[in-house]
Amino acid sequence: MDDLAFFSAALEEIKDRDLYRRLRIIHGAQSARVQVEGKEVVLLSSNNYLGLAEHPALKEAAIRALELYGSGAGASRSISGTMEPHKELEERIARFKGCEAALLFSSGYMANLGLLTTLVGGGDLIVSDEFNHASIVDGCRLTRAEVQVYRHRDMNHLEALLKTKTSSYRNRLIVTDGVFSMDGDITPLPEIRELADRYGALVMVDDAHATGVLGKGGRGTAEYFGLMGQVEIQMGTLGKALGGFGAYVAGSRVLIDYLINRCRTFMYTTALPPAVAAMAMVALDIVEKEPQRRERLWENIHYFRNDLKAMSFNAVGSDSPIVPILIGDNALTMEADHRLMEKGVFAQGIRPPTVPPQSSRLRATLMATHTKEDLDRAVRAFREVGKELGLI
Ligand SMILES: Cc1ncc(COP(=O)(O)O)c(C=O)c1O
Repeated sequence: MDDLAFFSAALEEIKDRDLYRRLRIIHGAQSARVQVEGKEVVLLSSNNYLGLAEHPALKEAAIRALELYGSGAGASRSISGTMEPHKELEERIARFKGCEAALLFSSGYMANLGLLTTLVGGGDLIVSDEFNHASIVDGCRLTRAEVQVYRHRDMNHLEALLKTKTSSYRNRLIVTDGVFSMDGDITPLPEIRELADRYGALVMVDDAHATGVLGKGGRGTAEYFGLMGQVEIQMGTLGKALGGFGAYVAGSRVLIDYLINRCRTFMYTTALPPAVAAMAMVALDIVEKEPQRRERLWENIHYFRNDLKAMSFNAVGSDSPIVPILIGDNALTMEADHRLMEKGVFAQGIRPPTVPPQSSRLRATLMATHTKEDLDRAVRAFREVGKELGLI
């Protein structure tokens, strides 16, 4: 077993740099309050933004689908794994997003990897925001396309890259998170659209954190900016605000047919369990029929963020349920995380490589299910920890 010594040494080094991760076990569902390590805490770390992961209608849909279709899809989509709930959900998502067609993926990570490696390759150019999600970064690494990274949300830099890259690429693609997962800010989609048109590029938006949250109808970043039908490739997840698991890509019929025929992370993996697809259909119904959930979420976001700002925390400019509180140092961030947990608040400390060096932070995420009492408890704990550690 000596060959594992390398990994032990690497782990020691990770610990020395205060970057060691351990898994915390949540007892029960992703509710506003959960039990962690024997303690009841306010959960400020879940992407269950609308509270759908614990909604009775989703559970009932899953149980009904389990009875009708069994537990697993049994095969990949291209063989015999395409079942009625997959087809119905894809049609449902296409309508929801105002697109011709949609396609399901096992996860957002798989969708991004698959999209980038299928849609661009040798002779193509990808221009990617520096804070895009790891799955986009990895997708870019796996293509043979030329990858250029622009400074976060910096449209001058994006344009400069598009301008200087004048050689005859086959395709050009601008890729961006809709809501950035660790900063909570929103991509400047109208400007990106304009630059894409000017320089002949396709636009791909990752709506993992925008689906169900942004826009009047919760349809994501394009709806938020009044650009429905004007983004060629829209990806989103079913595992965050929609309370389940899996992901989708929405776009033109041609795009989806091409993916069905070429995309390896779609073709060579078992289809989503039908019960998971059934849950997502109910989740979309709720997103459409209960805008009050989204209103409640936004009330909570404003309430919490304003209190934090008033305490002069370095809460960077988020405009979503993701509220990052910048600390910088890894050890100090985890000390704040630990002290918050002791005071009954779970706001995960986030460190490199998830965020750039020297930008470790607490990342608080709000849910529609948080009560004012939950948020007041959280704010009290932040104030105490902020004072104890000299953060405010
Ligand atoms: C922006 C973004 N894209 C993609 C993903 C991956 O989605 P999934 O969890 O479904 O793999 C995540 C988070 O998990 C994300 O934050």
